[in-house]
Amino acid sequence: MDGQVNASVVNYRELKRIPYILLLLQNGVNDHGFTRVNVSDLSRQIGTTPQNVSKVLKRLEREGYVIRSGAKGEVSLMLSERGSALLRSLMDLMESLLGRNITIVLRGVVTTGLGEGGYYMSLEGYRRQFTSKLGFDPYPGTLNVRLLDQYVKYRLYLERIPGIRIEGFSNGARTYGGVKAFKCVISSIQCGVLLVERTSHGPEVIEVIAPVKLRDRLNLRDGDEVTINILL
Ligand code: CDP
Repeated sequence: MDGQVNASVVNYRELKRIPYILLLLQNGVNDHGFTRVNVSDLSRQIGTTPQNVSKVLKRLEREGYVIRSGAKGEVSLMLSERGSALLRSLMDLMESLLGRNITIVLRGVVTTGLGEGGYYMSLEGYRRQFTSKLGFDPYPGTLNVRLLDQYVKYRLYLERIPGIRIEGFSNGARTYGGVKAFKCVISSIQCGVLLVERTSHGPEVIEVIAPVKLRDRLNLRDGDEVTINILL
């Protein structure tokens, strides 16, 4: 499909860890408390040596998929946030392959940016692509939304999955970078989320574009909460 980024949801290194993470899940390891596991049992279940299992567990810990506690000779494990996120992307990948729609809901508060959005949005090189790829001619500006803490992880997830690719371009004087976008809906208005990396703010701020000025249409002021529905 035109405008899709060719990025795998789960990369090669992660793929190799998945069987072991599933093995741990089967043995009661979860993401909300430590569970004691027996290395010899695990090795029998997967048909390898205990030494090998120990090595893999150390690697999973080093790479941040699991957290270990427990005294010498005993292994207690818990799935880390990274481990859970990997499983979540795997589930989403399977669901999307099986044709189910996934909606990601983001919530955040309206904030004022640096007033640069209008400039970028007025550039023909971007505008043309937004119109053809998102389906509307955007209002010249971006609505900055600061995500509530518990939603920041979804932005990080969006960074990893394929979206609508807006290509970078050059207008002779300057080059402008590419950006990834997703179609979304805010209060029944079709909008777009842009994942823009700016040095002026962190991953908690996303930028929204829309065919209308959202502040006027939805009577929004700084600090007001908005819900953004992204249909993948
Ligand atoms: O100054 P700031 O960077 O926040 O915004 P801008 O990109 O220059 O956009 C101008 C104004 O329009 C800002 O107040 C935005 O929040 C607002 N805006 C909006 O309400 N709806 C849009 N679709 C885009 C921008």
